[in-house]
Amino acid sequence: KNNMSSKIQIVRTISDLRSKISYWRKNRLSIGLVPTMGALHDGHFSLVKRSINTTDKTVVTLFVNPKQFGQNDDLTIYPRDEVGDIAALDAQGVDLLFIPSLEEMYPTDFATEISVPVIGDVMEGVFRPGFFVGVATVVAKLLIQSLPDKAFFGEKDLQQLYVIKKMVIDLDMPVEIIGCPIIRELDGLAFSSRNVYLSADERARAVELYKVLNEIAESAMNGEQIPILVEKAEKRLIGSGFTKIDYLAVCNTHNFKEIDYLEAPTYALGAVWLGETRLIDNIQIC
Ligand code: PAF
Repeated sequence: KNNMSSKIQIVRTISDLRSKISYWRKNRLSIGLVPTMGALHDGHFSLVKRSINTTDKTVVTLFVNPKQFGQNDDLTIYPRDEVGDIAALDAQGVDLLFIPSLEEMYPTDFATEISVPVIGDVMEGVFRPGFFVGVATVVAKLLIQSLPDKAFFGEKDLQQLYVIKKMVIDLDMPVEIIGCPIIRELDGLAFSSRNVYLSADERARAVELYKVLNEIAESAMNGEQIPILVEKAEKRLIGSGFTKIDYLAVCNTHNFKEIDYLEAPTYALGAVWLGETRLIDNIQIC
């Protein structure tokens, strides 16, 4: 389907979204959903490809969700490129693109919030209060609006992926949540819509995050003590010009609590600042 003649359909209301999808469903076609906030890059396109390869119809959503941005976050400057995103998704062979307005998603009297405590209370939950409530609420809405068979999320936002998995289990949502591997630039920096904020100098330094996560993973596998490794890695990041470390930790994916022993599945995770830009990344240790 990857040809120039593909013509993506765009809907902006929940009722149009539902009528398109219910027509496919009546014809026994399976539906894949890829929720995004736009400013699409190769990481998003890998989710789209996975959906196209494993379901009959792929629906992408593009909505910059204000509820997952804190007061001091970058909502107003978050990169937006609707025209470019539409062209790129069309070229990928996406069947349907849902671009709701703010009012369509959150009418003025909107009140409901979904929170996923424990797993959502640590790491990102500490440094971005309200973030996971915003994510869980919007993802629940998108899943209920489109009722897909599968929904695809990147492992770069690892904790987000597990918060969503937990919500789907707890609320008996009939959808399979598929985590997809991190896509990296040539030097190893994980693709992120926020990478455009980096100056040339910061961009050159940014890859150090991936390098220290790798080093933690390798040394931990060699039996070195995790707290000592993490401390060394923090020093190395600060020495490379990183301005702040929100966290650098080794965690499991059951509850994202910090651990100082290895028990699969275990990841090294970091959230660090280069000037005004916050970068997150992770790699699996075992
Ligand atoms: O990962 C993202 O881009 C967002 O958090 C998501 C899942 C699209 C919800 O707004």
